[in-house]
Amino acid sequence: MTPHAPRVFSGMQPTGNLTLGNYLGALRNFVALQEDDTFAERLYCVVDLHAITVAQDPDALRTAIREVAAAYIASGLDPKRSIVFNQSRVSAHAELGWIFTCVARMGWVKRMTQFKEKAGKDREEASVGLFSYPTLMAADILAYRATHVPVGEDQKQHLELTRDIAAKFNHDYGNPEDERGFFPLPEPLIQPETARIMSLRNGENKMSKSDPSDMSRINLTDTKNVIAQKIKKAKTDPEPLPSEAEGMIARPEARNLVGIYAALADMSVDRVLAEYGGQGFGAFKPALADLTVEKIAPIGDEMRRLMETPDEIDAILADGAGRAAALARPVLREVYDTLGLTGGGTA
Ligand code: AMP
Ligand code: TRP
Repeated sequence: MTPHAPRVFSGMQPTGNLTLGNYLGALRNFVALQEDDTFAERLYCVVDLHAITVAQDPDALRTAIREVAAAYIASGLDPKRSIVFNQSRVSAHAELGWIFTCVARMGWVKRMTQFKEKAGKDREEASVGLFSYPTLMAADILAYRATHVPVGEDQKQHLELTRDIAAKFNHDYGNPEDERGFFPLPEPLIQPETARIMSLRNGENKMSKSDPSDMSRINLTDTKNVIAQKIKKAKTDPEPLPSEAEGMIARPEARNLVGIYAALADMSVDRVLAEYGGQGFGAFKPALADLTVEKIAPIGDEMRRLMETPDEIDAILADGAGRAAALARPVLREVYDTLGLTGGGTA
């Protein structure tokens, strides 16, 4: 039996502005995977059904979906080489999501730290969807039998749950003769250097689009001046940069800024420190600001240009959805049939 074909799937939520953290932790890796011939297909989804686990304004959501699609394309995803689409256009996600809600165990889902963070203190008021969020994520990936999932560090636990769901489904319903299993057990692809880009205001917190302070993050749509200002005001310490990475173990802000520089310049942290070690932030920050402007501002410019023709973005999403649905449909039919149900993957 041939193993499951290598296939990439990933997604981002259309909730607010995408940040430098999204770009370095995930999006840039989506683009790099386009050059990797190991994979026959790459699916990059705007996960709009995940967005509604918390309240959304419908018009703002419509715009945010297009904006994430624009960010994908502006960052270098080619809709011919990758399948770019939004989740709600392909009914297989919601259908398989329900089935996985019945496969996953309460105890597994209760362990998810992202739910605890997102639900906050008033957990009783959180939607049931916010709790069962990772079962829909498992469906996103497994509806395509995807084998590799490029994500940032914070999604590792959700990927483990996806593997648990796949393994349980394989065990409960798989054909014991089929060694590869009904579903593959998908692997996260996490780039260690950029797995967790931190806030510019506090090196202990993740850079996040939901942080109340806009100064804590670089948004992909920030203008050149705003990017430069945010780097200039980024929290640092009074010490000069060390000449070796060990010197930053107890200096989270320095580690974060040097890490961002290294990632954007495609250099090792050691090389950055060979150049800037011994110098203060007064010298380093302007260089980092210039580099960030050079790499990020063009993405924002291109996003704005793409957003001027929303119909073109919608056409790309519709085309991607058609190709995605064609891949998911046979998998859904097989799942439904295996369970003794009829239908599945009808749209
Ligand atoms: P989200 O914005 O939560 O939909 O996240 C989309 C992708 O970006 C996921 O793969 C996250 O792991 C990744 N991501 C979000 N914030 C960061 C960050 N600060 N550093 C690295 N990766 C991130
Ligand atoms: N949960 C992911 C996040 O918050 C987004 C996501 C949804 C996703 N479905 C996915 C990522 C499938 C990878 C694969 O960032």
